[in-house]
Amino acid sequence: MDLNQNTSKKRIFSGVQPSGKLTLGNYLGAIKNWALLQDEYDCIYCVVDMHAITVRQEPAKLRQQTLEVMAQLISCGLDPEKNILFIQSHVSEHAELAWILDCFTMFGELSRMTQFKDKSLKNADNINAGLFTYPSLMAADILLYSSDLVPVGIDQKQHVELARDVANRFNGIFGETFIVPEPYIPKLGAKVMSLSDPARKMSKSDPNANSYILILDQPEDILRKFKRAVTDSDTRIFTGENKDGVNNLINIYATVTGKTTNEVEAEFDGKGYAQFKPAVAEAVIEELRPVREKTEDLLRNKDYLETVYKSGAERASRIASHMLRKVAKKVGFVKKP
Ligand code: TRP
Repeated sequence: MDLNQNTSKKRIFSGVQPSGKLTLGNYLGAIKNWALLQDEYDCIYCVVDMHAITVRQEPAKLRQQTLEVMAQLISCGLDPEKNILFIQSHVSEHAELAWILDCFTMFGELSRMTQFKDKSLKNADNINAGLFTYPSLMAADILLYSSDLVPVGIDQKQHVELARDVANRFNGIFGETFIVPEPYIPKLGAKVMSLSDPARKMSKSDPNANSYILILDQPEDILRKFKRAVTDSDTRIFTGENKDGVNNLINIYATVTGKTTNEVEAEFDGKGYAQFKPAVAEAVIEELRPVREKTEDLLRNKDYLETVYKSGAERASRIASHMLRKVAKKVGFVKKP
């Protein structure tokens, strides 16, 4: 039996899209905090390459980005011994349970998913069945591991709620089978906004590359992007309403340095952007430097990376296959000899 089934710790599961380069927002808003959970919880993280192909991907790029995300999870502080880190397509139980759950998920439910509606508008020429049933695969990801908590951004909450509904429905028909998971929106963790349009979340899909900081950005790029960050005509450094740009920079600086907003305001009292912006950049550069260096190292050492995701998939598969057998029996499949 896997070690992770013996503990009484609560289980956390989350999936990360292999979109390659993670942003400062992904780091400060999510992954850095996941590293703080690794002792208290039993944590499983999966790079969701199967979800990724619901929109067109370039195969070589998808492969590279999957490895890049895996490397970045490790360099952001997720210890591959303490956490199970794996690639979704390596554990075939995900696809198998997704099919079964598809048969317990209603067309109407899937039609109401806002992400499906958004993505259908954006990919009008490729509204494929996978895009539509995406939430069933995500429910399979979560339910296979009897996950208690699912850390996600607010945009994924609806999908976790659907996973709960499907779990409850299945349990209602066949008796207790799945743990009904809860979305976990950590209290810690900054919401990092775009540097060029601070009313919007920092996102790598923004066409303006100056609007986001990547974990792998070079120091000179980080400095340039912060110097260009949009603020407002008020030259003083303090937070307030209608000051999204400054609020965002103060928030980033406070999160990285561990200072409170008041302390940051006091530190820059009487000073202007010419001092503040480079200070934010410097703090971020130093925060990200070890993460970038470790990622570069891991990507040069693909053998090590492979041992991590190989052992991750083995550990995940032990848990997943146990659940899948249980589910197959409940729905009436003949036991595999
Ligand atoms: N859909 C999630 C996203 O786009 C990624 C994901 C896939 C996920 N499976 C998951 C998140 C399971 C949490 C749990 O961000």
